[in-house]
Amino acid sequence: MKVLVTGGAGFIGSHTCVELLNAGHEVVIVDNLSNSKEEAVDKIREITGKDLRFYRVDLLDRRELEDVFAQNPVGAVIHFAGYKAVGESVEKPLEYYWNNIAGTLILLETMRAAGCKKIVFSSSATVYGMDNPVPFKEGYPISATNPYGYTKVMIEQILQDLCHADPSWSAVLLRYFNPIGAHESGLIGESPNGIPNNLLPYIAQVADGVLPELKVYGDDYDTPDGTGVRDYIHVVDLAKGHLAALDYAVSYTGAEPFNLGTGHGTSVLEMVQAFEKTNNVRVPYKIVSRRAGDIAAAYADTSKAERVLHWHAEKGITEMCQDSWKFIQHSR
Ligand code: WQD
Repeated sequence: MKVLVTGGAGFIGSHTCVELLNAGHEVVIVDNLSNSKEEAVDKIREITGKDLRFYRVDLLDRRELEDVFAQNPVGAVIHFAGYKAVGESVEKPLEYYWNNIAGTLILLETMRAAGCKKIVFSSSATVYGMDNPVPFKEGYPISATNPYGYTKVMIEQILQDLCHADPSWSAVLLRYFNPIGAHESGLIGESPNGIPNNLLPYIAQVADGVLPELKVYGDDYDTPDGTGVRDYIHVVDLAKGHLAALDYAVSYTGAEPFNLGTGHGTSVLEMVQAFEKTNNVRVPYKIVSRRAGDIAAAYADTSKAERVLHWHAEKGITEMCQDSWKFIQHSR
């Protein structure tokens, strides 16, 4: 099938395009390169040995987007494009709501006009908010504590309402836990602009000597070693989850959320130790105060994705640390 991938030059998007092409799909990327580089598109071609179309288009540019759909009749859309920095969203709420919500509305209207009513949406475990017990289950109430999180909650609601109003739509809402790692080739991976917000790219830059030490945000949580526990999932496992979601969207209609995680929690200090041991590097760190908005523990109940999508994560922490480090070394 020909699939349009918004944000396909990004971290998760590029890994998903590799798996789509490897599975025999045709890929059309739409990306405004606000948090990615066009060279990722060439790396996708290099890894797969296959070609794909790339359009540097912003979803807010309706006319350009309409032209892409006119030139490329697609069977489905995988929608990654969106701003995703929690802290930045608190400082720039208007930009986040405009880019993420209006961009999605224009995409959905353009899809409908083109007769494409199948979408896989990049949601996030952040929608589980602060009050749900772990492991998180898809039926739990969703909420948010920052504008970024609210855009995910709102877009899930938009897709639920659209599918309710027009039952011919399919919308698969993928709630990612903590995607890390990189493709085994080392050619694509996570390269955030500026100082990383997230743990793994920060650890990798400390190990690489780019940053002096890791600040561990609190060791007084109600967790085994007091540091935050998260469900880290290899980005290639996550990418493969999108293929399973695409198959589901082709076979079923309606809006359906799925957790994409491993079901296992790893603490910050466990991750530091795993990265050091796996890659034979040092990651100096200092315990500092908690980061506002963080929760103690977040990890997935993975049973629904296993039962319905016939998908589960296969790679462990060691491989995630190995592949992250390999990408950093290739990027030097
Ligand atoms: C993980 C753990 C931190 C950095 C965020 C977004 C979420 C999703 C994934 C988009 C926590 C600790 C981190 C550091 C640290 N993004 N930490 N020092 O916060 O679970 O999720 O990224 O969808 O929406 O909220 O990920 O990697 O920032 O933090 O101690 O320098 O590492 O406190 O316990 P998080 P993270």
